[in-house]
Amino acid sequence: MDRSSRIPGTTGFFRDAENLAAVRDALRSRARTSASVPWIWSAGCAGGQEPYSLAMVLCEESGSIGTPPMILATDVDESALRYAKAGRYEAAETAHIPAAFRSACLGPADAWGRRPIRARMRSRVRFRHHDLRCDAEPKESPFSAILCRNLLMHHHEAERAVIVDRLRRTLEPGGLLVTGFQEHLPVAGSEHFADLGGGLYRLRDAITQRTIRTPREETYAIRSEAWV
Ligand SMILES: C[S@@+](CC[C@H](N)C(=O)[O-])C[C@H]1O[C@@H](n2cnc3c(N)ncnc32)[C@H](O)[C@@H]1O
Repeated sequence: MDRSSRIPGTTGFFRDAENLAAVRDALRSRARTSASVPWIWSAGCAGGQEPYSLAMVLCEESGSIGTPPMILATDVDESALRYAKAGRYEAAETAHIPAAFRSACLGPADAWGRRPIRARMRSRVRFRHHDLRCDAEPKESPFSAILCRNLLMHHHEAERAVIVDRLRRTLEPGGLLVTGFQEHLPVAGSEHFADLGGGLYRLRDAITQRTIRTPREETYAIRSEAWV
């Protein structure tokens, strides 16, 4: 049994990879108007597969998005965080990494067959304990994008409203909030976001409540990438 099936909450490398591509595309747009290093938040990162997948995609794309972004990866589960920080994964887990990324992003297997995430990707990710229900907003905010996937479904409506309000306040104007495909924002607070479909939400302009649009926005939900 691989680690991803033991921790509370299943996860995996390149899960719902279309949404990783959407984050990459949003950063491409951002790079045209801002030179600052973007921060991404993987909120509820579990065993690290999500933030490392994002780091792989974004490090390989640094030509079009400028300096590779930094990723804050947080979870309420300390054992999951320990596993994520160790950054070594069994073959059953790394099998989900597209071949194009595998050799560039993983080091050689150790005696137990586990392969480490290479230093170039690890250096882009900071892991920290954080409870979305009650902890203060991370000092790295505002974030250009937040992945909060397959987490809201574990909370009731009132908690979801608290969490989404916290996430909203840490997003840049026009920033992207990514939830799981099957998840919906709570009714309270959803007016601040434009629903792009497929679990993608763009924060509306705080002053005018207009949606800040990018040329590629409409294609996010239906993108099909070569490595997906
Ligand atoms: C189903 S996993 C999803 C992992 C990853 N985001 C993905 O989609 O593959 C949900 C994760 O959210 C974490 N989590 C649940 N409630 C949380 C909270 N209130 N604050 C922070 N993390 C939380 C769990 O510990 C678990 O690691």
